[in-house]
Amino acid sequence: VIRHPHIRPMTPEDKTAVMKILKATPEFTPGEVFVAEELIDCYISDPVGSGYLILVAEVNSKVEGYICFGLTPLTEGTWDIYWMATAREKQGQGIGTALLASAEAKIKESRGRLAFIETSSKPEYEKTTRFHLSHGYELICQVPDFYAPGDDKLILQKRLSP
Ligand SMILES: CC(C)(COP(=O)(O)OP(=O)(O)OC[C@H]1O[C@@H](n2cnc3c(N)ncnc32)[C@H](O)[C@@H]1OP(=O)(O)O)[C@@H](O)C(=O)NCCC(=O)NCCS
Repeated sequence: VIRHPHIRPMTPEDKTAVMKILKATPEFTPGEVFVAEELIDCYISDPVGSGYLILVAEVNSKVEGYICFGLTPLTEGTWDIYWMATAREKQGQGIGTALLASAEAKIKESRGRLAFIETSSKPEYEKTTRFHLSHGYELICQVPDFYAPGDDKLILQKRLSP
């Protein structure tokens, strides 16, 4: 059991490890991996101006997970958590929880009020949705057939300030 993964901002040197995790995550389609990589490249080329923040989780000096989030443009204190993943063989050991907690701490530090996660109603994402529900996120909206016929968009929200 890993008790304390080390959470730190992503650097360009971490990209190979993060891409490897994304490509080995069966839930992600090639299109999703492509979009996740675009956000990573934006962040790496301009960490401050990109509007994205990316944290990685290191265990025994190896990157085993990451989370990408950012202030939603044109809002006051509303943040989107765009993407997160833990290496398959390291899931269920607290890495995702540590990444999410660090992201939420960063959001609160920046006076963020709300955090949003959008996900799919497909059975492959059931575990992911359960993870977020157990970390204080509430299902506030379900958009029928958003991604594809029968594949709804689930919008999960957490209030980070009273
Ligand atoms: C969703 C995801 C990021 C969670 O990451 P994770 O590292 O497995 O998360 P954790 O280990 O912190 O938590 C997973 C479960 O393990 C349990 N757990 C937490 N710490 C634990 C520990 N130290 N030992 C054993 N189990 C633990 C938690 O209770 C949790 O259960 P819950 O989901 O019912 O809350 C990961 O499963 C993943 O990468 N999924 C595929 C990609 C994906 O769907 N990403 C999100 C959409 S972009």
